[in-house]
Amino acid sequence: MSKITIAIDGFSSTGKSTLAKQLAKELGYVYVDTGAMYRAITLFAMRNNFIADGEERLEDLVKLLPKIKLRFVPNPELGFAEMYLNNENVEKEIRTMRVSKYVSRIAEIEQVRFKLVEMQKDMGKEKGIVMDGRDIGTVVFPDAELKVFMTASPQARATRRYKELLDRGEEVLYKDVLENVEKRDFIDSHREFSPLRKADDAIEFDNSDMGLKEQFERLLSIAERYIEKV
Ligand code: DC
Repeated sequence: MSKITIAIDGFSSTGKSTLAKQLAKELGYVYVDTGAMYRAITLFAMRNNFIADGEERLEDLVKLLPKIKLRFVPNPELGFAEMYLNNENVEKEIRTMRVSKYVSRIAEIEQVRFKLVEMQKDMGKEKGIVMDGRDIGTVVFPDAELKVFMTASPQARATRRYKELLDRGEEVLYKDVLENVEKRDFIDSHREFSPLRKADDAIEFDNSDMGLKEQFERLLSIAERYIEKV
């Protein structure tokens, strides 16, 4: 059976990654979390003091971009690939609130987007891929056979993210998580290069009131229909 390209875009904390990961596993496709790539560059910028509260030296980050090596390394025990930044596993560190705070700012930089979009296009050359992010159906794979755009209310998303962070042992306040979600929505959808928007041919998927099992079953049946068509 021919393989297709599946692009999953949407607002932050809509559960894109969880769903995309499950779908890829079920179909035997490769899964790529592009948010992890923007997060890893953000971590690099933070560690080098290129970004901090009230302070930015983004031109210095841009100069070093060619030296930043990003790689997804499969972890058979976990069943998914982890992000490596210059040969260091940074999977845990890139998921913290500190990184979430600065990532939209880094994702606005034209040269950062250019570097990561090129890498993402390359990863999808063979098809058989489920990629999630913000610009996958509009910029990375405008010809993807299946495009999904996920939405949910900011409150539903902040509640999910809050629980996730607490489970990981981070001490956070719900109001700060909600503020971060709303702020990222605004920056992600208003930036100059590749702003977050639904591709005209994407299927909209609002999961505010839907459990994971129902979401997965619905998405899988949509994907199977598209795969049969090719
Ligand atoms: O999916 P995520 O929340 O881990 O993504 C982190 C940030 O990276 C998000 O605020 C926007 C940015 N991003 C992007 O601009 N383009 C992508 N394809 C993926 C993520």
